[in-house]
Amino acid sequence: MQQSRPIGIFDSGYGGLTVFRAIKDRLPQYDYVYLGDNARAPYGDRSFQTVYEYTLQAVNYLFDIGCPLIILACNTASAKALRQIQKNYLPTIASENRVLGVIRPSAEEIGAYTRTKSVGIVGTRGTIRSDSYKLEIAKTYPEVQVFQQECPMWVPLIEHGEYDTPQADIQIKKNMDQLLSQSDIIDTILLGCTHYPLILDKIRSHTPENITILTQGPIVADKLDDYLQRHKDIANAITKNGNMTFLTTDDAERFNDNATIFFGEEVTAKQVRI
Ligand code: DGL
Repeated sequence: MQQSRPIGIFDSGYGGLTVFRAIKDRLPQYDYVYLGDNARAPYGDRSFQTVYEYTLQAVNYLFDIGCPLIILACNTASAKALRQIQKNYLPTIASENRVLGVIRPSAEEIGAYTRTKSVGIVGTRGTIRSDSYKLEIAKTYPEVQVFQQECPMWVPLIEHGEYDTPQADIQIKKNMDQLLSQSDIIDTILLGCTHYPLILDKIRSHTPENITILTQGPIVADKLDDYLQRHKDIANAITKNGNMTFLTTDDAERFNDNATIFFGEEVTAKQVRI
């Protein structure tokens, strides 16, 4: 029997499911394994070194179970660990494998949406303070002004299942007001954290209607499709039986309950140590 060689999708917790959903809808033929490090989520407030170490453990785990390609479906990990893994780790340890993130694909697209050349980014403290979005957007769209807002409570509220509460509303309104007070010509806001689509309705309700809100799932799915068409060696290395496996570092039953809501179909996960 052919050994499974799936695409690995990694996030600190549930957020990457929003990216996985879009990728699976777009590219159903591939095999996938989703890994959520729920036991150690959130990553947003952790140091560069810690996020790097946790992400590297996850990447090694996914390589060990046969993934030729891994998507870090987590902005915090993409901001704090991706570059180091791509530059220093992959060339010596797993040169035929690939690890991709979610910040660059999103940054490459955002300029196509803004007319006022003023965009807002909401994200975790780690993502926002890394300035990764400012740097990446400037490479493709130097004329675009980037306004950023960290939202440190949003991921903890989602990971603890408290996103549909009055407290969540207070936090979301507070951070959206902080972002919008920085400029009155922002016309596009990117949700720069893969957890945030899970509270999109609430974010929308605190955002003026004329502002476009972008989520990363469809953008990343499009870019991945394009990447796999351009990199046939990687595409050919991935097995194509349409299988999905879900792994979590925390309790599997709790993951199943939440993931099924977020992913939109029944999920049966296995608990693993990474
Ligand atoms: N989904 C992760 C992101 O996109 C959340 C990070 C966290 O664990 O705080 O940044």
